[in-house]
Amino acid sequence: MQTIRVETPSAKYDVLAGSGLIESLAPRIHRLAGRLPRRIFVLTSPPIWALWGQAFEASFPEPPTILFLEPGEKHKTLASVEKLLRQIARTGGDRGSLLIAFGGGIVGDVGGFVAAIYMRGIACIQVPTTFLAQVDSSVGGKTGVNLPEGKNLVGSFHHPLAVFADTAVLGTLPDRELRAGLMESVKAGIIRDRALVRFMEEHADEILARDAGALEKTIASSIRMKAGVVNKDERETGLRMILNFGHTIGHALEQVTRYKILLHGEAVGWGMIGALYLARQRGTISNQQFDRLERLIHFYGRLPQLNLHAKRVAMATGTDKKNVGGVRRFVLPLGIGDAGVVEDVSPQELEAAVQYMLACAQPKPQKTRTK
Ligand SMILES: NC(=O)c1ccc[n+]([C@@H]2O[C@H](COP(=O)([O-])OP(=O)(O)OC[C@H]3O[C@@H](n4cnc5c(N)ncnc54)[C@H](O)[C@@H]3O)[C@@H](O)[C@H]2O)c1
Ligand SMILES: [Zn+2]
Repeated sequence: MQTIRVETPSAKYDVLAGSGLIESLAPRIHRLAGRLPRRIFVLTSPPIWALWGQAFEASFPEPPTILFLEPGEKHKTLASVEKLLRQIARTGGDRGSLLIAFGGGIVGDVGGFVAAIYMRGIACIQVPTTFLAQVDSSVGGKTGVNLPEGKNLVGSFHHPLAVFADTAVLGTLPDRELRAGLMESVKAGIIRDRALVRFMEEHADEILARDAGALEKTIASSIRMKAGVVNKDERETGLRMILNFGHTIGHALEQVTRYKILLHGEAVGWGMIGALYLARQRGTISNQQFDRLERLIHFYGRLPQLNLHAKRVAMATGTDKKNVGGVRRFVLPLGIGDAGVVEDVSPQELEAAVQYMLACAQPKPQKTRTK
């Protein structure tokens, strides 16, 4: 078990990563809060509850109230939030209630937001069940929902009381989701943790086989990286920007493919390849480092092929909401384990990077059998 401390000006809490946490949740919450809150709501989704509900409930002396959110981005809406708020109100939620978000990033974002605004804020605990949610979305306090006009446009900062990242729960995660989430760990290593890059190179088989020790190490290192950045820059005014490595092009890819072809982590995988190409062209990473990192991304990512126009993707990077005042910010690695933000990437440089990436992503012509 590993404990990572988040300490920002507005919140201090622990993130625990290890196997078997969900079976001991109630005593852990008791210790944390001094007692078990009288009303505990659990937001989850039906498939996750079917798999893990029994283990989750086992440690609670009285069963908590279960609220469901159907899976999928299309349910990450204000309408879902209103429905959940009303369910909580109808079933006696008060200021002392606790909401536990038990699911992937969608459940975590919606649950965190509901907790942020119900009676102007109630306590929340994150129990993330996808790799991505464990290493990324459950840590840092960002919560929110989508609008038809764009993703994550409504939200609030609301830190949890604690995060329990149980690696055993990842046992039922589809392989594609695991690989997509691992892209955020590759990102973590590239921008701030050279040892994590090495660990992921040397322990690839164990990580993909979901070996408990290898998962714990990868997840804890990734969380430690994110917590370290969030501790220094909670509200994304500076350093936190580096967490967007691979995301400028990644978000553009998600947008032009209308969020239908790529999982977020896969888009980030391709985005990192574009950004690495740009970094190599500028000389902030060497050819050798480029080859090494590109290999790592392909190894874990198994990225889907794409057939897109470079101009369209490059144009879409201009609409990323992280760009302020028309400035196109771009995170570039400086060697392995360090990164910086630049604002002077020219349209030509960007297009060349996208072109390189798309050439790698091109569907390969089918081999015809020859006798
Ligand atoms: N708040 C933040 O800082 C932040 C950061 C990154 C991403 N996000 C958000 O996170 C969301 C994506 O999260 P995600 O990738 O976890 O996707 P997700 O929540 O959609 O989960 C992916 C799928 O896996 C299933 N699942 C979850 N846990 C499982 C388990 N243990 N076993 C079997 N199936 C399981 C879910 O039901 C779902 O179908 C996006 O909405 C994104 O905007 C937020
Ligand atoms: Zn991401």
